[in-house]
Amino acid sequence: RIVYLDGTYLPETEAKVSIFDRGFLMADAVYEVTSVLDGRLIDFPGHLARLGRSLSELSIRNPLQDQDWLELHRSLIARNGMSEGLIYLQVSRGNPGDRDFAYPAADVAPTVVAFTQSKNNLAANPQAETGLRVISLPDMRWVRRDIKTVQLLPSSMAKMAAKAAGVDEAWFTEAGLVTEGTSSNVFILKAGHLITRPLSQDILHGITRRAALRLADEAGLVIEERAFSIDEAQAADEAFLTSASSFVLPVTEIDGIRLGDGKPGPVSRDLRRIYIEEMR
Ligand code: PDD
Repeated sequence: RIVYLDGTYLPETEAKVSIFDRGFLMADAVYEVTSVLDGRLIDFPGHLARLGRSLSELSIRNPLQDQDWLELHRSLIARNGMSEGLIYLQVSRGNPGDRDFAYPAADVAPTVVAFTQSKNNLAANPQAETGLRVISLPDMRWVRRDIKTVQLLPSSMAKMAAKAAGVDEAWFTEAGLVTEGTSSNVFILKAGHLITRPLSQDILHGITRRAALRLADEAGLVIEERAFSIDEAQAADEAFLTSASSFVLPVTEIDGIRLGDGKPGPVSRDLRRIYIEEMR
């Protein structure tokens, strides 16, 4: 694989970052994951805008212009001949040359890393046919989940707990209400109403979430942006999650309770199909 590190394209084995990099020592870094279908970036302006916002919330200098970010992504796709997959981009506060809690001086340049992950089943994902089984877990993350930082240990732990429970995913809850999935936004559908938690600092402002809401609105669903409980989700007609890596994926079981007949629902299936048709 050819990867990107601070202005250079090089083989992945040659890409080296300092042990003093703040991304490594302090998870002082933000990231984006953009999907690629037929060699083209999906919803890239949304990801760029969110990258800019994450950086600005943490006072990390945005090291490149929008056009350069786009070139970088396109170049990685071309150099790796990737037709379908993901591009991971990370910007850390950089390498101050020592460990210190305080931010380094402004002349320390951010570290930029990007790489491709080829996948051949983003669009033809078998989980779209089977649906996902999920468990709920207390949300153990920090309170600024709207900033896309690389502090992902609570999400990794939740994924492992889901695995150990023999299911596919975990949904986080806080104060009795669902926040989001480990790496996705979540939705329930009841009697033509599509319900999802409103944007706030409690959840990541998903780029796929926004597209799904627009498509659902165009399809005539009533959108209700409000929080919901696991009980309400278990009584829903359908549920699904959204993310750049999964698009729209149906959820068919929550904490051992099957939704409806336990098969992916028609609205979830339609939204997935429309999303992929429209975006590709
Ligand atoms: N995760 N919520 C969380 C906590 C996420 O990590 C993600 C994405 C989303 C969905 O956002 P978007 O639709 O913009 O991808 C919501 C990426 C895919 C990841 O960490 O791999």
